[in-house]
Amino acid sequence: MAIVYLNGEFLPVEQACVSVTDRGFIFGDGVYEVIPVYGGRLFRLEQHLDRLACSLAAIRLDNPLATEEWRQCLQELVARNGDGDQSLYLQITRGAAPRDHAFPKDVSPTVYAATSPLKPMAAEVAEQGVAAITLDDIRWQRCDIKAITLLANILMRQRAVEQGAAEALLVRDGLVNEGAASNLFMVKDGVLVTPPKGPLLLPGITRDLVLELAAAEGIAHREAAITPADLQAAEEVWLTSSTREILPVTHLDQRPVGNGRPGPLWRRMMRLYQDYKQGVRERGEAPAA
Ligand code: PDD
Repeated sequence: MAIVYLNGEFLPVEQACVSVTDRGFIFGDGVYEVIPVYGGRLFRLEQHLDRLACSLAAIRLDNPLATEEWRQCLQELVARNGDGDQSLYLQITRGAAPRDHAFPKDVSPTVYAATSPLKPMAAEVAEQGVAAITLDDIRWQRCDIKAITLLANILMRQRAVEQGAAEALLVRDGLVNEGAASNLFMVKDGVLVTPPKGPLLLPGITRDLVLELAAAEGIAHREAAITPADLQAAEEVWLTSSTREILPVTHLDQRPVGNGRPGPLWRRMMRLYQDYKQGVRERGEAPAA
């Protein structure tokens, strides 16, 4: 039976209850993280906890746990769910209080974490890639906060799914910033390009690792704005996220990207990424530089 963490306790998911007055339920007033776990080891935990701290600070909520407390709590949750490969979801809301938009006083946050099995990439996806569509980005101006309020992302992803695509790429003021739940990379003239960080996209942990691996391997890369026209002319397009790793986009708005097959640089980066993961499985993570 799945065990979850809720406000200091580990308990079966069926017994975990949150008040209907919780501001996460009423307002979507909270932030979250999704952390992959490989062979029972939390992947890039330090980076995920740093981003969580930034999200909490941005919504003016005190971090309920210190780094070491988070580490122990999440590691115990993973162990109680049988180690192995998991996707760990954690969420903090401003807590339960009578409905009022302004912050409540003297309320404890609600802290919740759970894991689910992490499935490896389907062989078909690795062979054929996925389709994506471009859509107008209808989100707010603080997409760098990993907020649980995901209605715009949900609506855009659903439109992609209804058109047989795996992801929507979001266009604002003539630039493609990221996907509905992923970061964006393209290969142009042999150079790996991803949009620079800023308030209009989430600073993805997978994105940063891909850039780190590119730097370590001497793969030409650059952070630069990407237009829809750049994507149409790109040799390769990829999406990155903690749950989908590095996804090759082979069709964009019904047209093939490059030759319509996952490209050679994607294959090389996937190998590097899998080797890095294997290292974490065997030895754990080296502390962040
Ligand atoms: N989403 N951009 C958005 C809007 C995202 O929601 C995500 C991840 C990313 C990639 O970030 P990372 O590499 O740190 O996972 C970029 C998670 C997986 C989700 O909402 O389930």
